[in-house]
Amino acid sequence: MKEVSIFSPATVANVSCAFDILGFAMENAGDEMVFRKTTQKGIRIVMKNFRELPAQPEQNVAGVVALAMIEKSQPDFGILIEIKKGILPGSGMGSSGASAGGAAFGVNRLLGEPFTQTELVQFAMLGEALASGVAHADNVAPNLFGGFTLVRSTSPLDIIPLHTPPSLSVSVLHPLIEVKTKNARNILKKSLLLKDAVLQWGNIAGLVSGLFMEDYGLIARSMHDGIVEPVRSMLIPLFDELKQAALEAGALGCSISGSGPSVFALSDNGAVAKNVTRALKKVYAGREVPYETFTSAIGQQGCRVLTKSNNG
Ligand code: HSE
Repeated sequence: MKEVSIFSPATVANVSCAFDILGFAMENAGDEMVFRKTTQKGIRIVMKNFRELPAQPEQNVAGVVALAMIEKSQPDFGILIEIKKGILPGSGMGSSGASAGGAAFGVNRLLGEPFTQTELVQFAMLGEALASGVAHADNVAPNLFGGFTLVRSTSPLDIIPLHTPPSLSVSVLHPLIEVKTKNARNILKKSLLLKDAVLQWGNIAGLVSGLFMEDYGLIARSMHDGIVEPVRSMLIPLFDELKQAALEAGALGCSISGSGPSVFALSDNGAVAKNVTRALKKVYAGREVPYETFTSAIGQQGCRVLTKSNNG
């Protein structure tokens, strides 16, 4: 294969109670990336939009992933990566995760697929480390595996794809303000009370069980985050109003997508999710903060090939 173009999905990390260990892929929001073999060795990055993002491979989220992969596999060709971002950086929808996971997926294809999915996650975490200073995997794991994906441990890396109820759908409202993951992590408390941890553990176990059992009542009861959401929600204009509107419109739960500022809500089917998106929009209607919204099924697949070619 000489060239492959791929879709790399947006992801919602944390899923309310499961900070740093759970995320899911979106079906219809994401980046497009093209990977082309070149005779000149090494990695070259071309940003098709967001040209202010660094294109030097060592400073680019996709670039550091690709560099590590060719360092390991020593191909006799180079790779040109074109990135067209559909997810705004700093949105909380896994923008850096999409670049990093997409790079791992696309480069692996051009190399003849020498690496396992879990190894791809490991490479992609290098991109997250560059972007936020922390090699968290709860965006890149679902970006690559699709559906809901659990990161049981990052050292050693242990990724568990979970069952994803097929009708489950997501609404996202993205206020167009930038929140850097690094900053959103710095404001978190470094320790917590055992009683708060116990509540959180119960909710995480309930959420995971609810997914497997397709028990929407259990999912709804479990989508509570008493640790991270109370701190980070202060960065999000009208967060409480958004959450209340989503729940009143029938959402199972509503919380912050990744490190924010995007807010997501899960619904048990696509029709309810559309209503929920409408309700979220109403909260922001006529306010000062510009925003965009998404309504999507859960992306069962993760990164996927759009076209491939042997010519060029
Ligand atoms: N788990 C990470 C965080 C996700 O909340 O900081 C960042 O997208």
